[in-house]
Amino acid sequence: MSILEIKKFPDPVLKKHAAEVKQIDGRIAGMLNNMVDTMYTANGIGLAAPQVGILERAIVVDTDTENRGRKLVKIINPEVTEASGEITIEEGCLSVVNFTAEITRPRKILVKGWTVDQQQVELEFEDIDAVCIQHEIDHLEGLLLVDHISRLKRDMYRKRLRKQDSGGGQGGGAPKI
Ligand code: NI
Repeated sequence: MSILEIKKFPDPVLKKHAAEVKQIDGRIAGMLNNMVDTMYTANGIGLAAPQVGILERAIVVDTDTENRGRKLVKIINPEVTEASGEITIEEGCLSVVNFTAEITRPRKILVKGWTVDQQQVELEFEDIDAVCIQHEIDHLEGLLLVDHISRLKRDMYRKRLRKQDSGGGQGGGAPKI
């Protein structure tokens, strides 16, 4: 396994639509394992393939930072089929340094997708897990946290980013998704 480079805003790859995975094989399994390693090393709770420059529909999520692996899910071609309720949390992103945004999303979702063992699954997620999955699916559509906010705020962020070295940490204690 290896640690991959996490692409940072405004890298154009992050704006692209990721393609459906047509064949689930060892290559995909290896890619997902590398993504998990990369997510853990970066102290994140979710990572989507476009964030490491791979335009394929695959995500990894593990919201339990105390017991890594306990809540780990790897989903290929994830799709939200049902959504209900509402939750607002302050989200950070491994690809958008020094930036957080309060975003309102459905609190409970049903997600269809595939496992690395080629099993079709339907999984239910709530609260932070549901937020995280939706944030990762946004990445597959080329949507970033900065796309959820106003143009004015986005321009302010771009300016701030230019002034500082982008190697810095994350704003506040928001989860890096
Ligand atoms: Ni993100």
